[in-house]
Amino acid sequence: MLVEASAPGKVILYGEHSVVYNQPAVVLAIDRRANVYAKKRTDNKIFIDADNLGFSGYFEDDVYHAVRGQAWRGRNLAALNVSAKKTMEYLGVEGGIDLKVRSMIPIAVGLGSSAAICVATVGAVEKLHEGGLKKEEISNVAFEGETIIHGKPSGVDNNVSTFGGVMSYAKGEGFTHHKLPREIPFIIGNSRKKRSTKRMVENVAALKERNPTVMDNFLDTMGYIAKKGLNALLKADLGKMGDLMDLNHGLLSGIGVSTMKLEILCHTARKNGALGAKLTGAGGGGCMIALSEEVRMSDIERAIRRRKSDAYRVSLTDQGVTSRWIEDEEMADS
Ligand code: MEV
Repeated sequence: MLVEASAPGKVILYGEHSVVYNQPAVVLAIDRRANVYAKKRTDNKIFIDADNLGFSGYFEDDVYHAVRGQAWRGRNLAALNVSAKKTMEYLGVEGGIDLKVRSMIPIAVGLGSSAAICVATVGAVEKLHEGGLKKEEISNVAFEGETIIHGKPSGVDNNVSTFGGVMSYAKGEGFTHHKLPREIPFIIGNSRKKRSTKRMVENVAALKERNPTVMDNFLDTMGYIAKKGLNALLKADLGKMGDLMDLNHGLLSGIGVSTMKLEILCHTARKNGALGAKLTGAGGGGCMIALSEEVRMSDIERAIRRRKSDAYRVSLTDQGVTSRWIEDEEMADS
């Protein structure tokens, strides 16, 4: 028997970057998930099979040994090693683990793939050791893994991936769950350019260092937009939500985290009927999100694809991290 755990990716509707500076953000868990399978080993290695990404290897005393793919890939896998080890440390247990990662969330494009993988790893390892951890504990331990990748994350990604649903979140204040009056689908446009969240957050910090007063005003306004945006979302007022997405995007461009391609995708979406469009996540590449009435969605998706980008329609999910015991054969099928 082994454990299968799964956790969703996310989109930030309002408030990326400003959330790092204690402003509120509005975040939605999406129906694209990362799955992690875990099985105990008889030695103390943390073996990670990420073969569908082209690499696998193991950590022994935190040193990576490549089995498939190049040694530097250990950098991509270090967060899983840390997540697994921190979970065992938290539970006061020891031992080696085989981890297998299968994710439907594109990597490094702002959809919370690394947080989902860390959350699913903690979910799998704690279940394997019958830890009985509460969701809040899973989220906190996963945060330590994510720190390896993102430096100083705000905590928004691990929280939404653990709990699922629609959340507003502010550092220090924590998160609030919300129920929507009806389903609201979104379109994600993926510019296909990977980027580092850590680097983007550092760039914003450097800009703030050079221009503290102006940046404080930008960040305060982003926080204000997030509050207004949450009200509009809870009333399903698509027109208002769209305006606020456009305004939020303008400020994100202003602080230097947009790219030419993201600008083109936002303009393309608006020209083809979107009520609003903005980059989502850290920017510098990655994804944008568009909101529209159902009738215009296919036009927008086609227009995004014509710009050599991927377009996905995403629905929101209430399901956060889950875990269950499965037979070995079920994993062989996955
Ligand atoms: C990353 O998904 C969002 C940022 O606000 C960074 C963070 O919140 O840690 C850019």
